[in-house]
Amino acid sequence: MSAVEAFDAVDLIRTKRDRGELTTDQIGWLVDAYTRGYVADEQMSAMTMAIFLNGMTRREIRDMTMAMIASGERMDFSALGKPTTDKHSTGGVGDKITLPLMPLVASFGVAVPQLSGRGLGHTGGTLDKLESIPGWRAELSNEEMFAQLRDVGGVICAAGAGLAPADKKLYALRDITGTVEAIPLIASSIMSKKIAEGTGALVLDVKFGSGAFLQDIERSRELARTMVELGEDAGVATSALLTNMNVPLGLTIGNANEVRESVEVLAGGGPADIRELTVALAREMLELAGVADADVEAALDDGRAMDTWRASIRAQGGDPDAPLPVAKEQHVVIADRDGVLVRQEALPFGIGAWRLGAGRARKEDPVQHAAGIDLHAKPGDVVRAGQPLFTLHADEPARFARALEAVEGAWEIGDAGSAVQDGGPLIAERIGR
Ligand code: URA
Repeated sequence: MSAVEAFDAVDLIRTKRDRGELTTDQIGWLVDAYTRGYVADEQMSAMTMAIFLNGMTRREIRDMTMAMIASGERMDFSALGKPTTDKHSTGGVGDKITLPLMPLVASFGVAVPQLSGRGLGHTGGTLDKLESIPGWRAELSNEEMFAQLRDVGGVICAAGAGLAPADKKLYALRDITGTVEAIPLIASSIMSKKIAEGTGALVLDVKFGSGAFLQDIERSRELARTMVELGEDAGVATSALLTNMNVPLGLTIGNANEVRESVEVLAGGGPADIRELTVALAREMLELAGVADADVEAALDDGRAMDTWRASIRAQGGDPDAPLPVAKEQHVVIADRDGVLVRQEALPFGIGAWRLGAGRARKEDPVQHAAGIDLHAKPGDVVRAGQPLFTLHADEPARFARALEAVEGAWEIGDAGSAVQDGGPLIAERIGR
């Protein structure tokens, strides 16, 4: 005989539908009962839509986050005897910052447990990018993760099934019910995983602009504030940078090409925007972890970050010297006139790379590691007729037409002196203590 349930899901749905507030016990029960399958998907769909439409108070969002943490295991790295710090990005086009950032921060003796995901749709996934390195393995046991943090200082790996299982189920449901973009649900989803991961400090890279999850800076700011409060309430030193995602980050969008660009940054070079954001996030992560005034640029330039990168790739079975995959086919788009590149929209280029095979449409699809787009110019650059503007890479030439369709009208060459797409500063604001 089953135990008597504490609440009735329909009562709770009605409360939220009518703009009421759920109690801590009601939220705890709802998340637990949904995770164990007592509350049905149809009921949780109605609830997530009511939350999407009517919002949640700060206390409700905190209760939701804590209930999702309680649905699974909570990791603990205190036995390492050193501070831990992590970063989360809400995702964007060409966003490979985790790759140079983890070894950079770890090279200062702070442990970086970076649990990452795979891409879905036009935003790429860190694990997909790293899997283009021959032999590299994303799945680690908790013991392997701990050993790598102790011996190398940093790890990027897949989150185990035991971490916030309520979120895994809820996120899949939101994905098919048009309820992903609700700030209380995004904030509790992200922060439950980061708090359960056991990091002592956390920096959030919250994107806004055409290639971001939330386009509008006001909504990104609200999301950032909500997440910073959740982190601080849970005892995790948290801050956020609001960063611009109107233009692709760096010069590569894909998987293997993004690894190549990350290695350039670790060698002290790479595109200016990737270096700027990597350095700013590293400083934040180190300050929150108690390392003030670290010369992070020196660690990129003198090879310390590169040494940690190589050690971390080797620790996960990868060969940092192995050639990265190269696509079978290329299609180059050239400038049809002299002038200045005045526009390059992030979202269409992200969709274009996805259509070339760099991303997946369904969770179970494989990605093609060599597929993607290399950009040869950025907004503001002077271009000459006949000069390559970007190169598409794919294993199947049949993919080029749909990718070209995606980027059609997403870039523009203007006369010298024309106004350039207003991307604004890369780092618009900092939120936190
Ligand atoms: N990333 C997450 O982990 N959860 C969300 O809800 C949105 C983005």
